[in-house]
Amino acid sequence: MESYNQGWLLLVVILVTLSLPYSQAEREIKTAVFRSHKFVLGPGEVENKFYYNIDFPRGHIGLKSFNAEVIDAAGNPVPLLETYLHHWVVARYHVRKGIKIPAFADHAKLTGSNFISGRNKGICQSTVLPQYFGLGSESRNVVMHIPDPYGIPVGNPAEIPAGFEEQWMLNIHAIDTRGVEDTLGCIECRCDTYNVTVNQHGKPLRPGYKGGVSCCYNGTRCKVKQGFQGATRTFYLRYIVKWIDMDSSVLPVQVYILDITDTWKRTGNSTGINSEHHCKMEYEIEPCDATGLANDGCIDNKRISLDMPFQGYIIYAVAHQHPGGTGSALYREDGQLLCSSTPRYGKGDEPGDEVGSIVEMTTCYIQPGTIEITKGETVIFESNYSRISSHSGVMGLFYMLVVDRLPKPRHNLHGFVGTQETITMLAILWAVVAMISVVAAITVAMRYRFKPERGDGYEAIRR
Ligand SMILES: *[C@@H]1O[C@H](CO)[C@@H](O)[C@H](O)[C@H]1NC(C)=O
Ligand SMILES: *[C@@H]1O[C@H](CO)[C@@H](O)[C@H](O)[C@H]1NC(C)=O
Ligand SMILES: *[C@@H]1O[C@H](CO)[C@@H](O)[C@H](O)[C@H]1NC(C)=O
Ligand SMILES: *[C@@H]1O[C@H](CO)[C@@H](O)[C@H](O)[C@H]1NC(C)=O
Repeated sequence: MESYNQGWLLLVVILVTLSLPYSQAEREIKTAVFRSHKFVLGPGEVENKFYYNIDFPRGHIGLKSFNAEVIDAAGNPVPLLETYLHHWVVARYHVRKGIKIPAFADHAKLTGSNFISGRNKGICQSTVLPQYFGLGSESRNVVMHIPDPYGIPVGNPAEIPAGFEEQWMLNIHAIDTRGVEDTLGCIECRCDTYNVTVNQHGKPLRPGYKGGVSCCYNGTRCKVKQGFQGATRTFYLRYIVKWIDMDSSVLPVQVYILDITDTWKRTGNSTGINSEHHCKMEYEIEPCDATGLANDGCIDNKRISLDMPFQGYIIYAVAHQHPGGTGSALYREDGQLLCSSTPRYGKGDEPGDEVGSIVEMTTCYIQPGTIEITKGETVIFESNYSRISSHSGVMGLFYMLVVDRLPKPRHNLHGFVGTQETITMLAILWAVVAMISVVAAITVAMRYRFKPERGDGYEAIRR
C-alpha cells in the first residue's frame, strides 16, 4: 500500500514538472493600500475636490487594478445611505519638476507651461472624461483586474517631457445625505433641492437646467429636514492599487471611455472622419405617461453610433449608470452583442448593499483575441433608464480596456518549433495529463484520508 501511494506521488510530481513550460509565467503583482486626504461633511453637505499629487506607485509600471471605497476615521466602510459616493476619478498629469501644485488646486486654473494634463485614449476629447479609473456608488462590487501578460503602462520615462514628472490627481464627489428632505433629489443634484441658481463660478445656470454637477459643487448644501441635527464626520477614500514592474513581456492596455451624450456625427462623405467628440456627460430623463407605458414600457433607450479610432481587442468593459438605470450595452453594426452591463440595486443598509443605489454593474471579461475591433468600425452604444419618474444629471458611460496585440505562444522555449495545430494538440495532451495527475492525486489523498475514519470525513464534507 505504502509503495503504491509513493509511486503515484512520484508520477504526479514528474507530470506536473513536465507541464510547467506550458503554464503561464508568474508575475509578481504588487499591492499598495492608500488613504486620500480627509474630507469633512455635515448633514446635506457636498465634497467635490481635486486632490493633486496623491500617493501612487512610482516608476515605469503596468497597472493591474484600482479599487476604492469611502471609509470613516476608524477605517470602517461608510454606507451610501449616509454618504453617497457620487463619483471618484483618477487621472494623471505631468508637472514641471520643482513646481508644487497645492493639494486642493483649482483645476480650472492649472494651465500654462508648468502643467500638462494627461488623459486616456479617448474617445472624448480635451479635458472631458480624462480618467484612467473612475466609478461611483457601484465601487465596492465592481472589481476590475487586468489579466497577464497585460498592464496599463504608466510612468514611462520616454513619454514624460524633459524637465517634467508624472503625478496623479484624485477627484472625489460625495454627498452627505443624513437627514435630508429628498435623498434622490440630493444624489441627482437637483438644483431646487440645493437652492442653487448659479454655478460654481457664480454664473447663472442655463435655462431649463434641472440638475447635475453644476448644482452640487463643493460647498453646496442639500436641504435638510427642519430641526435635524448631526455632527460633522471625517471621511477618506481608501484606494488599493495593484501593478507589475514593466518589462518587454508586459503588453500595453489602453483605456477608452464612451459617453452616451457624445454628439459626434460621422460626416456624410468619405474624405475624413469628423473626430470632434463633444461629451456632455450628463442628461435628463423625462417621465413617461400612460401611452409611454404601453409603447416602450417607460424605458428611455438612448442609442448612438460611434466609429472606433483604434484597431484591437476589447478585453474588459463595464458601464456606469445612475439610479434609474436599467442597463447598457455595446453592439456591432450588424447587431452582434459585444458587452451588456446591467445594474444591481441594493436591498438593505449594509455597505455594498444599500437600498435605492446601484451597488454593482455587471462586467464583461473577454478572452483576449475574441472580440476584434477594426479601425473605423462602427459600434452601437445604448444606455437605458426607467422613465417611471424623471431623473436629473444621469450618466451613461462605457469603460473599455483595449489591447492591440495578443501574447505570443509560449512554446518556442527549448527551441521547439511546430505548427499551430501540433502546439494545440500538445497543449491539449498536457492538459489531459495534468488532469489525470490531479485526479490521481485526489484519489490517493482520499484513500489516505477516508480509510481510517470514514464516518468523520464524510461528516466533515457534508458540513
Ligand atoms: C435660497 O437661496 C436664496 C438666495 O439665493 C435665499 O434668499 C433663500 O433664503 C434660500 N432658501 C432656502 C430655503 O435656503
Ligand atoms: C469646499 O467646501 C468646503 C466647505 O464649504 C470649504 O471649506 C472648502 O474650502 C472648499 N474647498 C474647495 C477646494 O473649494
Ligand atoms: C467632407 O467632410 C469634411 C470634414 O468634415 C469637410 O471638410 C468637407 O467639406 C466634406 N466634403 C464634402 C464634399 O461634403
Ligand atoms: C434597452 O432597451 C431596449 C428597448 O427597450 C431593449 O431592446 C434592450 O434590450 C435594452 N438593453 C439593455 C442592455 O437593457
